[in-house]
Amino acid sequence: MFTLAHLSDPHLAPLPAPHWSELIGKRVTGYVNWQRKRRFIHDPSVLAAIVADTKAQSPDHIVVTGDIANIALATEFPKGRDWLAGLGPAKDVTFVPGNHDVYVREAAAFAGRQWGAHMSDDDGSGGFPFVRRRGNVALIGLSTGVPTAAFLATGWLGTKQLAEFAAVLNALKSENLFRIVLIHHPPISETARHKRLLDAAVFKRVIAAHGADLVLHGHDHRHMINWLDGPNGTRVPAIGVPSASSRPAGDKDGAGYNLYRIEIANGAWQCELISRGFVESGQIVQQRRVVVTGADC
Ligand SMILES: [Fe+2]
Repeated sequence: MFTLAHLSDPHLAPLPAPHWSELIGKRVTGYVNWQRKRRFIHDPSVLAAIVADTKAQSPDHIVVTGDIANIALATEFPKGRDWLAGLGPAKDVTFVPGNHDVYVREAAAFAGRQWGAHMSDDDGSGGFPFVRRRGNVALIGLSTGVPTAAFLATGWLGTKQLAEFAAVLNALKSENLFRIVLIHHPPISETARHKRLLDAAVFKRVIAAHGADLVLHGHDHRHMINWLDGPNGTRVPAIGVPSASSRPAGDKDGAGYNLYRIEIANGAWQCELISRGFVESGQIVQQRRVVVTGADC
């Protein structure tokens, strides 16, 4: 039995005071948006409670699918490094970046420098995709974070990363590992077009050709399950979680996370999903428990 916890979009608050020289380009609109709206949604005490509840479940590994930062100020990255370290050592905590972590061009290297230990292959090498093997499980990390113009929150994998992703999935097939893909943007989403993964169609073609056992994402700040086509009529669940720090607001869910209990039973993979999150009473409770896959292994 391997227990995996999936958190996403912590959007660490409070936002550090920006230096005046940092408030240029897209950061200006992002800063205004934070001050007017987002700082009332992302609550450090909510995030602390979610992290404490996660740790109380004693997962073997924790994955975080992006958006630690808000407007990618230089000071947000050491803060993020400390938060990741608080979840556990880098060997037990895996991270992939979101659009807020690569918010502007000059910040693109910050995540790699400060959070690289959580975004690397088992041999320590960086870049995307990366692969980490933990028991019978393979974690495949992708990056959809690219700097975009103001008011855009799109994601992009790119031809090179997608080609390497296909090769990785193909190679892992022969190892009989439970393949979990980590990606910030959902491959299927009903959110506005300016927030979507632009090359989602190619991503889905790669999954259809080579298969995977689970795709985990964040970005939409909601509990989501969609099914992707896999090879030979199989289906692959793509599952999203809310922001780990959010008070309920609008159509977004209150803070929550998912646990996966993965094992081989009677010659097949069994993967049980348990959702936990805040309810109106202010407590964190189990919200759902369901078997999401039972593919032959
Ligand atoms: Fe986010």
